[in-house]
Amino acid sequence: MSDLKELIDAARLARANAHSPYSRFSVGAALRTDDGRLFSGANVENASYPEGICAETAAIAAMVSAGGRHIAEIVVLAGGKATCVPCGGCRQRLREFATETTPIHLCGIEGHRQTVTLGELLPMGFGAGHLPS
Ligand code: THU
Repeated sequence: MSDLKELIDAARLARANAHSPYSRFSVGAALRTDDGRLFSGANVENASYPEGICAETAAIAAMVSAGGRHIAEIVVLAGGKATCVPCGGCRQRLREFATETTPIHLCGIEGHRQTVTLGELLPMGFGAGHLPS
């Protein structure tokens, strides 16, 4: 199985477990760390709407909880005609653990649609390097 197919399958599985009764928009994300580990997540909504979390955030939290810190690539997978892209907050969270050249694979239910880099999604992003030392 190709590396990308493995990530897509993991994102699809995670999406099946999304808790999205409010938006009815289920998303799955799966990432690979620089040391080859795979983590996935789904969006988890809440009756208090702003308290929900995105699939990318769930996958990042799973990675960090297991000691991972460097994202090599990530898949975001959702249904619909318009290709799902990470929201602004998730772009910032990705920036913490990825680089400008990290590939973000945007996928539909049918499979891969487009690959972009984090630098394309978040140009001139704020990071730890901007904080005074
Ligand atoms: N959502 C994600 O999980 N990831 C994205 O990249 C975009 C949006 C979720 C948040 C919310 O649960 C639902 O999709 C509708 O916005």
